[in-house]
Amino acid sequence: MRLNGQRRWAAAGVVVACAVATFGVALSAPAGAAPGCRVDYTANNWGGGGFGGKVKITNLGDALSNWTLKFTFPGSQRVTQGWSANWTQSGADVTATSMSWNGSLGTGAATEIGFNGSYSGTNTDPATFTLNGTTCTGVVPTSTTTTTTTTSGNPNPNPGNRVDNPYANAKMYVNPDWSAKAAAEPGGSRVANQPTGVWIDRIAAITGTVDGRGIEGHLNEAVRQAAGSPLVIQFVIYNLPGRDCSALASNGELKPTEIDRYKTEYIDPIAAILAKPAYKDLRIVTTVEIDSLPNLITNVTPRPTKVDACDVMKANGNYITGVGYALAKLGAIPNVYNYLDIGHHGWIGWDDNFGPTAELLFQAANASGSTKANVHGFIANTANYGALKEPYFTIDDSVNGTSVRQSKWVDWNRYVDELSYAQAFRQRAVQAGFDANVGMLIDTSRNGWGGSARPTGPGPKTTVDTYVNGGKLDRRIHLGNWCNQSGAGLGERPKAAPAAGIDAYVWMKPPGESDGASKEIPNNEGKGADKMCDPTYTGNIRNGNNMSGALADAPLSGKWFSAQFQELMRNAYPAL
Ligand code: BGC
Repeated sequence: MRLNGQRRWAAAGVVVACAVATFGVALSAPAGAAPGCRVDYTANNWGGGGFGGKVKITNLGDALSNWTLKFTFPGSQRVTQGWSANWTQSGADVTATSMSWNGSLGTGAATEIGFNGSYSGTNTDPATFTLNGTTCTGVVPTSTTTTTTTTSGNPNPNPGNRVDNPYANAKMYVNPDWSAKAAAEPGGSRVANQPTGVWIDRIAAITGTVDGRGIEGHLNEAVRQAAGSPLVIQFVIYNLPGRDCSALASNGELKPTEIDRYKTEYIDPIAAILAKPAYKDLRIVTTVEIDSLPNLITNVTPRPTKVDACDVMKANGNYITGVGYALAKLGAIPNVYNYLDIGHHGWIGWDDNFGPTAELLFQAANASGSTKANVHGFIANTANYGALKEPYFTIDDSVNGTSVRQSKWVDWNRYVDELSYAQAFRQRAVQAGFDANVGMLIDTSRNGWGGSARPTGPGPKTTVDTYVNGGKLDRRIHLGNWCNQSGAGLGERPKAAPAAGIDAYVWMKPPGESDGASKEIPNNEGKGADKMCDPTYTGNIRNGNNMSGALADAPLSGKWFSAQFQELMRNAYPAL
């Protein structure tokens, strides 16, 4: 997979893009059981770029004899002097370790530490704190410059019910089949224990194929890995009729009209397995039908980017029927968390695509007997390469009076990275009718863009293009390129609650698995050869007629691509 087909379609319309800091309901581990913590953070701005920070740490887990608190400043803040802890800062990352006299913290006990700091611009509170490696989900931002949100420190009162953020205070499932392939690569053991998504990409994958075990095999292993603690296992539901209508690399086994087979041979058997009582304590995350609904916005008539196969799927309604059916069936299982795919900023980030996608998703969430209650959140950047954060330019910058939106790279998009896109989409989805507490996932498996070519500062302000091109981390030739991108690296490691509104950074696309074959390869999965996976291809309207930027000699989508995996490790950011 991984079509694209963004392109601006007449810049018009206004997007609500104000990122409001929201913190979900805090669920903490019961005292004395799994680790848990709460942090109350207060920043008092003095003016002139100085501020005082107060951090109250409450231990909600087992008694501790020493502790390490970590957080990341979202902006330019620096700790200039601290007390009641040993304070260090590296880049934006701050670490405070306990002193001899305040290291012991019983269950329910609290201690307060503080610091003086400096900042420029806005002084936004850190979104996430960890105590001895555990994310503190009882964050209460009480700074004088931001709104106070009250969170409860109560454990989930009813274990069968969904929690607000399934990733909070939970382990994540490591797929042993992917892990073995990663570990077999030189240097692969550095990442082989990372959690990755399990793709149910054809009917046969339900019971298992040459590529890996079936769903029950994964769930049984997940129960073993959980060992009684909360654990998230991530499945990708990916088998719609007429799948991947704007590209060929991930066309699937079901023909455009085969919606009944989708229901009875694919979704129903999956739901029957997930609903088994043996798996009731797992937190099962399902990401639903990558790429499908966004294709119905950007790659249909009358857009210049239209593809006939997408027109067919729009006309027959089977993407919407299928997504609604999957949401309804899977959402009926109390421990399943459905996340709908929203493409990525380089596709849906244009004004003409953004709102209409949110509205279409809402329509699908209410199709086939589903309701919006079946949607727990959304996932951005699945199997794509969009940078998480572009630190050296923002959408609001301009050069000699020209907005970065007018640069060739940004091309009137409203977003420059996945984090700002995902946070804004969350707001827009709520406006479209989704529940106010929906959460976002961002696939960071291959958007690291590290290595020696990574810029270390803004580009020169000669023109808007030198500024953007010199400073951007994303080194694709064009934002619309999507297949086995040359130069990419592993991104942020999977992490719970990393930023406001974000449930987790995840590795939904298993790094090392190809996006598509560079040349035609016969197969029985319905997959074609997409030119965007051929490094000699000079492009189409969906990538502005640029070179594809794909690596050579790639195998079929989903198959192991050793050379790509090696490059992803070399260019990892953070580095391995
Ligand atoms: C492929 C799937 C594969 C998935 C994960 C997709 O592009 O079409 O077959 O399971 O990627 O690698």
